Amino acid sequence: MKQHDIQLDSEGKLRHFLTIEGLKKQMLLDILDYAENFSSVGNRQVKKVPLLRGKTIANLFFEPSTRTRTTFELAAKRLSADVLNININTSATTKGESLLDMLHNLEAMQVDMFVVRHNSSGAAHFIAQHVAPHVSVINAGDGSHAHPTQAMLDMFTIRRHKQDFTKLTVAIVGDIMHSRVARSQIHALNTLGVPEVRVIGPQTIIPNEAAHLGVHVYHDMQQGLQNVDVVIMLRLQRERMEGALLPSEHEYFHMFGLTEKKLKLAKPDAIVMHPGPINRGVEIESTVADGPQSVILEQVTHGISVRMAAMSMALGRSSLAEVQD
Ligand code: CP
Repeated sequence: MKQHDIQLDSEGKLRHFLTIEGLKKQMLLDILDYAENFSSVGNRQVKKVPLLRGKTIANLFFEPSTRTRTTFELAAKRLSADVLNININTSATTKGESLLDMLHNLEAMQVDMFVVRHNSSGAAHFIAQHVAPHVSVINAGDGSHAHPTQAMLDMFTIRRHKQDFTKLTVAIVGDIMHSRVARSQIHALNTLGVPEVRVIGPQTIIPNEAAHLGVHVYHDMQQGLQNVDVVIMLRLQRERMEGALLPSEHEYFHMFGLTEKKLKLAKPDAIVMHPGPINRGVEIESTVADGPQSVILEQVTHGISVRMAAMSMALGRSSLAEVQD
C-alpha cells in the first residue's frame, strides 16, 4: 500500500503524516493555515493551549536530532499533551526486544501518537501499518525518503516572506541524492504551484531521476542561482554516502558553497534557508548564514507551530476555539 493511501482516514482527513507525496494542495494549505493559528502561542505568558490535554505522545528517535526532536516535544507540550521521550539507547531494544514489541508495549500504556525518526526509509510507514486503530504516526525523517514536517515548516517560512507560491523560483542546492528534506520540499513546492524548482549540485549527488520530479537540474551554481526568490542550502549527508562522491570539502565550498558573492546572483530580496544542522564553511559562508537574508532560525521557530498543527490534525483535534487566547 502506498504511504499516501494510509495517511488519510475514510473521510480524507489526516490520520498519519508520513509523506507529502500524494497529498492534495488543499491539505497542505490547511496545515499552513492551521499552523498560523499557533504561531502566537509562543509569545504568550502561558505558552499553552488545551487542545491535546489527556493525549500521550511518544517521541521515538533512532537517529540524532536537535531541531526536530525538541520542536516536536515543545509543540506537544504547548498543546498540553503528555510527552514521553524514549531513549532508544537505554530501551529494552538493546536487550533484543523488537521494534514492534516495543511499540505494542507503549500502546498498552495508552500512547496516542508516535513521532518517529529512523535511518531506514519506510520505517514510519511500517510502524503506521502496525499500530492500533486509534494511534497516529508522524514521520520525523526516514532515511533519505521523507521529512514532511520539515518541508511544511519550510513552506510556512516561504509563504510568510513571499506570500504567493505561484510566482516563485526556488533553488535547492547541495546533496539532493541523500536528502529526505529535498524530496519532501520538491513534492510540496510542486503541489503548491511553484512554477520553477531548481536543484543545483555536482552530478554525483543529484539523482538521475531528479528531472522526473519536475525540477530543473543545474551543475553550475552561477547559472542556477540567477534570479531566484528562495535559496535552500543542504548539508552534505556524509553518513548516507557510500564511496567518494565528492572532491574535498574545500573544493565543494568553492564550487557549491553559498557565499555573499554568489548570493548576489539571486534576486536582491531572495531569502536563504537551511533545514539545519549547518556546516559553516562547507555549504554556507558564516556571513550568509548569519546575514540579513537568512531566515534559518525563523524556520526553527515555525517548526513548533507547524508541528502543533500536524499533531492536532492527526489526532482529530482542530478546534480553533481552543486555540484562542
Ligand atoms: N532539520 C532537521 O531535521 O534537523 P535535526 O536533525 O536537528 O532534527
